[in-house]
Amino acid sequence: MLSLLVFVLCVLYAQATSFYLEDAKLPLKDVVNKYGYPLEVHTIITPDGYILGTHRIKHGRKSNTTNKNPILLGHGMGATSESFLALGKISLPYYLADHGYDVWIMNARGNFFSRNHTHLNPDNDRQFWNFRLDEICLIDLPANIDYISNVTKEKALFYVGHSQGTTAFFMLTSAKPEYNKKFKLAISMGPSVFLRFNEVITGLLPYGAPALSLVESFNFLELCTDMIRESIREYCSTPMFETVCLQSFNFLSDAEFPNDKNLLFWILRTIPSGLSIYQLKQYVQFTTSGFRYYDYGIQGNLKHYNAPYPPEYNIQNSKAPSALFYSDRDWITSPESVRLLGESLSNVIMYRVPFANFTHFDFIIHPDDVRLVYRPMVRLMEKYK
Ligand SMILES: *[C@@H]1O[C@H](CO)[C@@H](O)[C@H](O)[C@H]1NC(C)=O
Ligand SMILES: *[C@@H]1O[C@H](CO)[C@@H](O)[C@H](O)[C@H]1NC(C)=O
Ligand SMILES: *[C@@H]1O[C@H](CO)[C@@H](O)[C@H](O)[C@H]1NC(C)=O
Ligand SMILES: *[C@@H]1O[C@H](CO)[C@@H](O)[C@H](O)[C@H]1NC(C)=O
Repeated sequence: MLSLLVFVLCVLYAQATSFYLEDAKLPLKDVVNKYGYPLEVHTIITPDGYILGTHRIKHGRKSNTTNKNPILLGHGMGATSESFLALGKISLPYYLADHGYDVWIMNARGNFFSRNHTHLNPDNDRQFWNFRLDEICLIDLPANIDYISNVTKEKALFYVGHSQGTTAFFMLTSAKPEYNKKFKLAISMGPSVFLRFNEVITGLLPYGAPALSLVESFNFLELCTDMIRESIREYCSTPMFETVCLQSFNFLSDAEFPNDKNLLFWILRTIPSGLSIYQLKQYVQFTTSGFRYYDYGIQGNLKHYNAPYPPEYNIQNSKAPSALFYSDRDWITSPESVRLLGESLSNVIMYRVPFANFTHFDFIIHPDDVRLVYRPMVRLMEKYK
């Protein structure tokens, strides 16, 4: 009986592993080369010892020389540089490279490509995971910017952030205003600064902080890593569950996943990538306390900030030209949150995606992104070169 079960499982497993689609199986360099682009991997060490992997596509398919205008892309929470490539050959980095940009894509500390440190071991040292949005935004982002301007000798670059990547731009320019001049134009897709949620999410929020504290008390600081990703992928690769699996991701997008397994398997290859529980906690804090540094509780705040409450990020300091790309059905950064942000900025352009059902994740995965987002984005950037 047992051997029969083992046999059945083995057959299912064999089928499952053969189900992985081509791109999702290939190493990143092979995927990028397959579409006709070059890939460079750069290693950047932050002042606090994190070893970050940054990817670069320095020219388009029809060229041999490095493009002039550097642009840095910043991914969302739990994502990686690879997430920007989910749409295959029509992905944003390729589109930008073909339009004359020298494309750099960062990886925040803790994710798959930046899971290393000069003296901490991510597998054994709890201290490795002791970081918040503050460190990603105030250390990792400027480390990338300084590195890129050193390599390219350009004083200012373009920036495109998605979700957490937008938080990074606004935190950095608020806390270190000297960085404003390093951005020619920063485009924020799903700008995540002021968070105003719909009723469903607002109803769940009060449970967020205690749930996260519980996880923390079990000593898990690294969230959502290989294990979760592997099990979702295994489940979704099993022919029996394939349809159910594909359908269960429909909520992410207006696009229909059942028609596009390539997209889903690429997403499952990249998300969720390693992140710290404190990143998530800080976003939950945003919803109640606003755009502030991490809240350690009164005792901890006194120690870290010499004040009972964490200081606010002064958004008025963010003066670099910026554009807010938002959509009506984004239930993470609603049009209302984006309007509030826009009103706080002095140098801003608003762009509402002209498609009613467009969601927060569609900036990365909608099949019509070239028309809805990327082409308008490049047209806008042309004016700031
Ligand atoms: C790129 O360089 C190679 C070798 O120098 C040359 O054969 C090729 O035609 C070039 N391609 C383009 C698109 O310029
Ligand atoms: C992590 O960084 C150290 C140098 O500090 C290096 O020796 C090691 O090979 C790196 N590990 C991985 C998995 O890249
Ligand atoms: C800038 O580049 C030079 C040489 O390429 C290197 O020696 C220097 O350490 C770099 N500086 C930074 C801040 O990366
Ligand atoms: C938007 O979504 C609704 C419900 O999911 C659907 O009925 C409608 O046709 C969609 N609109 C467009 C333009 O796709």
